[in-house]
Amino acid sequence: MASKKQIRVGMVGYRLMGRAHSHAYRDVPFYFNPDVEPRLQAIAGRDEESTKAAADKMGWESWETDWRRLIEREDIDLIDIVTPNNTHADIAIAAADAGKHVFCEKPLAMSLNEAKRMLEAVNRTGVTHMICHNYRFSPAVQYAKKLIDEGRLGKIYHMRATFLQDWLMDPEFPLIWRLKKEVSGGGTLSDLGAHIIDLARFLVGEFHEVAGMMETFVKKRPLGTMTNNLKGQIQSDQWGEVTVDDATMFLARFHNGAIGTFEASRFSRGNRAGNRFEINGEKGSIRWDMENLNNLHVYLEEDEPGLQGFRTINCTEESHPFAGSYWPAGHILGYEHTFVNIVFRLMDGIAQGTSPEPNFADGVKNQAVLEAVEQSAEKRGWIEIPD
Ligand SMILES: NC(=O)c1ccc[n+]([C@@H]2O[C@H](COP(=O)([O-])OP(=O)(O)OC[C@H]3O[C@@H](n4cnc5c(N)ncnc54)[C@H](O)[C@@H]3O)[C@@H](O)[C@H]2O)c1
Repeated sequence: MASKKQIRVGMVGYRLMGRAHSHAYRDVPFYFNPDVEPRLQAIAGRDEESTKAAADKMGWESWETDWRRLIEREDIDLIDIVTPNNTHADIAIAAADAGKHVFCEKPLAMSLNEAKRMLEAVNRTGVTHMICHNYRFSPAVQYAKKLIDEGRLGKIYHMRATFLQDWLMDPEFPLIWRLKKEVSGGGTLSDLGAHIIDLARFLVGEFHEVAGMMETFVKKRPLGTMTNNLKGQIQSDQWGEVTVDDATMFLARFHNGAIGTFEASRFSRGNRAGNRFEINGEKGSIRWDMENLNNLHVYLEEDEPGLQGFRTINCTEESHPFAGSYWPAGHILGYEHTFVNIVFRLMDGIAQGTSPEPNFADGVKNQAVLEAVEQSAEKRGWIEIPD
């Protein structure tokens, strides 16, 4: 029996996102019928014992203790980057130069210039590239996009989006890599804000200008790390400085005339993953909340008076994007399936020699908004997004 071409994946990093991506590679051929199939070929970490343990647990065939070695290997076709942000550019550019396809976690880079260098590398070498903005791939968000593109909401006036968490509120939660600018490039804005910026670009359009404010509530923390479940582990009696924002809010104007408000915070008590948006158009509105990610709330002004109101659509029908490949209607999907769906799209791109969106060009546009928000907060004024 002829088997499908296998895309041999080499994944750098293996913790929170490493788990999500590993699961996705395993499940894609189970639920979908891609022209090429991922093979869990090798992971790279730094510590041999934990890298080997992670490879065994997640079903990878081999491991390396230096990502450069992974890139040198001839039996690797795709490099997947699930490491802290200060490593993305070096790994992605080396992978592209070696002719490997690249799948990179968000935010793409530490700065707009770095993101542009990454885009230049993948364009120069012609490899397939994508950035992991997985929330686009919830069937409900895909369906929202379809309704907007079909004009069911008419002209869009507003987007208000939040991504709110509360795991950082303990002032003794340790100084993890996400809180050090030299490793993360930015704080809550570039971690959580990047996701709602991507949803805005996907659903509403390109940003024209932004005005933001940023705040760091807790300025020093004990040194340490955290678990995959966002629980802090203090590792020293020394303290260090927090060099990124704990919370960021910004106003935005889009090129199409819509306006928006955006809020990203890790200090919003009771919000575990409050990734939510509402979009208002001339003919209707939609609302989505990641904590109930199957449901899309839709209001259509064309409904008969008396019956008007937000309806709740459980986006698990065959007519909803991606949903038909899973279970019968009403049998809900979860967080992990957003990754399965994006990896399916990635496999399609590799099979066809294209770079499906969101790709590194989206990563650059996202980074331009992140950088503009930061500049506007410093300057206390509006900043236009460069072309
Ligand atoms: N798409 C999403 O929803 C989402 C969610 C969380 C994180 N992320 C992004 O994923 C990336 C990783 O985040 P995470 O939460 O998985 O982090 P993590 O801290 O859980 O894991 C980071 C991994 O990178 C490894 N690592 C660190 N430095 C390395 C180096 N120099 N060489 C090799 N390996 C190295 C660590 O050992 C670990 O395995 C970040 O860019 C983050 O912004 C995306």
